[in-house]
Amino acid sequence: MLSVSLSTSKPTTARADVLILGIRNDDDKGDHAATLDLLGFTGEKGQTVMFPSGGSDKAPVVVAVALPSEPTAEDLRRAAARGVRAAHTATSLAVDLHPAGVDEVEAIAEGLALGAYRFDTFKSAKKGADKKPVLKTAVILSPFARQSTATRALERAATVATAVNTARDWVNTPPGDLRPADFADAITAHAGTDVKVSVWDEKRLAKEKCGGILGVGRGSDSPPRLVTLTYEPAGAVAHLALVGKGITFDSGGLSIKPGASMQTMKLDMAGAAAVVAATVAIAKLGLPIRITAYACIAENMPSGGATRPGDVLHMRSGATVEVHNTDAEGRLVLADGLSLAVDAKPDHIVDVATLTGACVVALGQHTSGILGNDEAFGDTVLAASKAAGESMWPLPITEEMKGVVTSSSIADLRQHNPKPYGGTLFAAAFLREFVNEIPWAHLDIAGPSFNEGSAFDYTPVGGTGTGVRTLVRLATELAEAR
Ligand code: BES
Ligand code: MN
Ligand code: ZN
Repeated sequence: MLSVSLSTSKPTTARADVLILGIRNDDDKGDHAATLDLLGFTGEKGQTVMFPSGGSDKAPVVVAVALPSEPTAEDLRRAAARGVRAAHTATSLAVDLHPAGVDEVEAIAEGLALGAYRFDTFKSAKKGADKKPVLKTAVILSPFARQSTATRALERAATVATAVNTARDWVNTPPGDLRPADFADAITAHAGTDVKVSVWDEKRLAKEKCGGILGVGRGSDSPPRLVTLTYEPAGAVAHLALVGKGITFDSGGLSIKPGASMQTMKLDMAGAAAVVAATVAIAKLGLPIRITAYACIAENMPSGGATRPGDVLHMRSGATVEVHNTDAEGRLVLADGLSLAVDAKPDHIVDVATLTGACVVALGQHTSGILGNDEAFGDTVLAASKAAGESMWPLPITEEMKGVVTSSSIADLRQHNPKPYGGTLFAAAFLREFVNEIPWAHLDIAGPSFNEGSAFDYTPVGGTGTGVRTLVRLATELAEAR
């Protein structure tokens, strides 16, 4: 990953291929005023222009990025990343975004590392993947460079950005290269020594009565896995359980998806990727909070052995569920994960899932839905998402949906609403049946988890790693609240 350091150098003397220069709204444009005017740079949000420095700076090329006069952390993350993407052929950067404090240094460092992300694993050398220059170093120019708090801020930024980029890598990996056992292995390898890992295979899942995960995984010749991560620091002040949807590919099963909707369905393990990456980051940061995380991993495929519409599944909780649509598989694997989370008796539960297309219809592609059973905890999660710079918005679990969830004529619960309205609310109402009284928030990341368009700000094409920063922030705040 990009290595970010700090320096008290002046922008004119910093040695680098490219100088990224923030121009605040009310700045006079300094030595470059005439050039910036010529290039039509007005300082409007999002604007980025590139020009040769002509020797006035040590760096041969300048990328000017617009900043508001009082930028938020998110403004700085985005500006830093826009600078990085404009300078994509450079190997070294100097970055002068005039941070007003250590928090701003941290945001800039995060933006740089997130904006520098690439996924080249499957590009062959012939296509020039390994001939393209790769950005190696960025130095943030700041008067705080020598303070130990700034050094720690850089380390935090690197830990969080590594976590986001790891989640992105997993989402981007082709579904044939990341089948359930592969994903479980990758998680085990990533967890290192700070976090304990246990993997349940299909035999253990049967012994543990995880009928939801097994029911979804039955159609695949690569059987399901349940991966549990535990981080138990001495002096933990709270216990947070995380549950992630880990469908390595969602074909829809026998209720098969049309081809076009299937194209991006390697994204369907983004929730599990986010909770795992966040857990490892929380451990690396040494936050005094206990985490138990469950990655519910299966491949949803059609076959002669697949679960049929009309089948009844015996869930881990003891409830029976009538399946109506095998493409509503996420709630089935999450239900078992939530039951396991409840058994661990945490103070809070958060699940993260690419659960419903309906959530994308409701909130668009850049905003996740927050639902749950506890308004105060929902507000805490929403505040964490704001502080982290991830867009989320609350949706209700309405009374209407409770009635439908319990309306199966042959089982305790029905899995799918025959009416196409409020699909996100129905899915959450179903999940709520498995969490009992524990304060719980459900994050539906179906929209933001994958960018089908072109790259913008720090968001690359493909997997985005959404959810990771909110979870790390939430853990930070829960650890401070006691
Ligand atoms: N994984 C999909 C949801 C999804 C859709 C994620 C688009 C990202 C982008 C989920 O398993 C699914 O298929 N949901 C169905 C539910 C329906 C059958 C009730 C959907 O949204 O159509
Ligand atoms: Mn589905
Ligand atoms: Zn799915």
